[in-house]
Amino acid sequence: ATLTVSTTGGNASSPLLYGLMFEDINNSGDGGIHGQLLKNNGFQGTSPTTSPYAAVGSATISRDTSNPLSSAITSSLKVSVASGTTGYVGFSNAGYNGVPVNLDTYANYFWVKGAYSGIVTLELVGASSGIVYASQNLTITSTASSFSYIDTTFASTQSPDGNNVWQLTFDASQVAGGSLWFALPQLFPVTYHARYNGIRLDVGNFLEAMNPSFLRFPGGNNLEGASPATRWKWNETIGPVEDRPGRQGDWGYANTDALGLMEYLQWCEDMNLAPVLAIWSGLSLGGGIASGTALTPYVNDALNELEFLLGSTSTTLGALRSSYGHPAPYNITMLEIGNEDNLSSGCSTYASRFTAFYNAIHATYPSITIIASTTSSSCLPSPLPSGVWTDIHHYEEPHAFVSLFNEFDNYPRTDGYGIFVGEYANTADDSGATTYWSTVQGAVSEAVYMIGLERNSDLVKMASYAPLLEHYDVAEWSPDLVGLDARPGSLTGSVSYYVQKLFSTARGNTILPVTSDTAFNPLFWVASSTTTGKYYVKLANYGTTAQSVTIKIPNASGVSATAGLQTLTGGATSSNYPLDVTVLPTSTTVSGSASGGWTFSVPGYGVAVLTVSPA
Ligand code: AHR
Repeated sequence: ATLTVSTTGGNASSPLLYGLMFEDINNSGDGGIHGQLLKNNGFQGTSPTTSPYAAVGSATISRDTSNPLSSAITSSLKVSVASGTTGYVGFSNAGYNGVPVNLDTYANYFWVKGAYSGIVTLELVGASSGIVYASQNLTITSTASSFSYIDTTFASTQSPDGNNVWQLTFDASQVAGGSLWFALPQLFPVTYHARYNGIRLDVGNFLEAMNPSFLRFPGGNNLEGASPATRWKWNETIGPVEDRPGRQGDWGYANTDALGLMEYLQWCEDMNLAPVLAIWSGLSLGGGIASGTALTPYVNDALNELEFLLGSTSTTLGALRSSYGHPAPYNITMLEIGNEDNLSSGCSTYASRFTAFYNAIHATYPSITIIASTTSSSCLPSPLPSGVWTDIHHYEEPHAFVSLFNEFDNYPRTDGYGIFVGEYANTADDSGATTYWSTVQGAVSEAVYMIGLERNSDLVKMASYAPLLEHYDVAEWSPDLVGLDARPGSLTGSVSYYVQKLFSTARGNTILPVTSDTAFNPLFWVASSTTTGKYYVKLANYGTTAQSVTIKIPNASGVSATAGLQTLTGGATSSNYPLDVTVLPTSTTVSGSASGGWTFSVPGYGVAVLTVSPA
């Protein structure tokens, strides 16, 4: 095919197009991106057990509700020592199927109650090998009357695997015949941007490498709650972690909410992401709906959340935010009302529920872009208020993504209206068989769809693959973009991750018209230019055989004869697997000229990005 790229005309590309959707699913929050490595540290959720704590030495352990740390953290770990015991005893925590132990500095916090004065030993230990990778002796004084807070850091050497525990031991002779109580132990490696209670450095860097522009949070289903009472509640995710009760999340496990509202926004600030804040719309996953006058408290709750985030420090909630360390208002420019309100019998009441939130929020914060959680017109108010965007989700087979290539080509353009593809992923092959992680064919079909989005990015403002992250041992939803567990080097990108990265790191400001001597399919393309004089041409070949392509930009002046070419390909069913990456982009250069063109081959089931730079 010969593609001729015009240097004039075209449409403005949304500067936000590629971004992230995040919710705590697959232990992607606790046990995933959040830096804290000890599981069940606050005994949160509906039915806390003592797993994965274990006694060390002859101590016995139990969950105790008669010595709560706070009104939010209502259980502590009681560690009892039989009379006459000597030596060091205590307890361990095995994290999320192992504690990742790396050459790193760990921050360790915990509370202790009970009469004790002497040495406490903190260690990172191989669970089977007994090898000690980190050890620190602390001299502490604790009393029986209240909890004492202990805060320390120590260095660790590298463990070869993820089979490690954190353990705390103390001098048994001092406690013999009695007990000590421990609460909310926390263990953090150095975090992304070295934040207290921050996200993991390795995961943060891996996501940052994708060059994302926005973060949609906190759900997804995990916003909604099994019932209205168990929805994600912003005000229970802020302030000191000992004041956060956590909740039974919507993906089958307890959420600590240590990754709370302000931590999400810290992530946004550190990664330069525009927050897309989702608020509860009255619809719960179990079908429980608050509507009509029953919705009023929730509308007020959303206004309170916005006062907390945006209010000056002279407002009650703005002052609270300031007291938690963020005096400046956050930069909230986008807010989504609900999640998938077209589902779970939410559709019939969504227009009125949306309108109640919209009216209240828009009146106070007219510059916030409000996003409806569905694009289905039958669920939306008619007419849709000007400036409102709508969210659409696609979990599709490859052929379906290819036929959605032109989904937005003839979509009505109305002033201020925008589309947000808040979730999309190839989830099954063309026979409907689900895929574990994305295959090359599936990722190329996503690329075809993304080319369609980019061609329409005057209308399509944002798009995010979902779900973002899994802990391999809790992969309740597959495929996911990225995964990890406790093993060193376990952080792995799927084929789709590399396609996202290829496209998101090659963004123009203007989408340029392209003429071609062939029609779309199996080859698809989009061209763009930047304000710095670069040209990008993205291509996806959904066919099985290679395609020779010549790209001409006849009116481009002053560009280098050497263009960069990144290509990703593999067998149709090839896939990356945890700790097993075989499909990666390769980089090369192509010689040519603007008028004569740059000629190269796009492999069967391949994605390519050509970069033409100023000379
Ligand atoms: O991404 C997984 C789930 O898919 C989300 O929680 C939900 O919004 C959608 O149904």
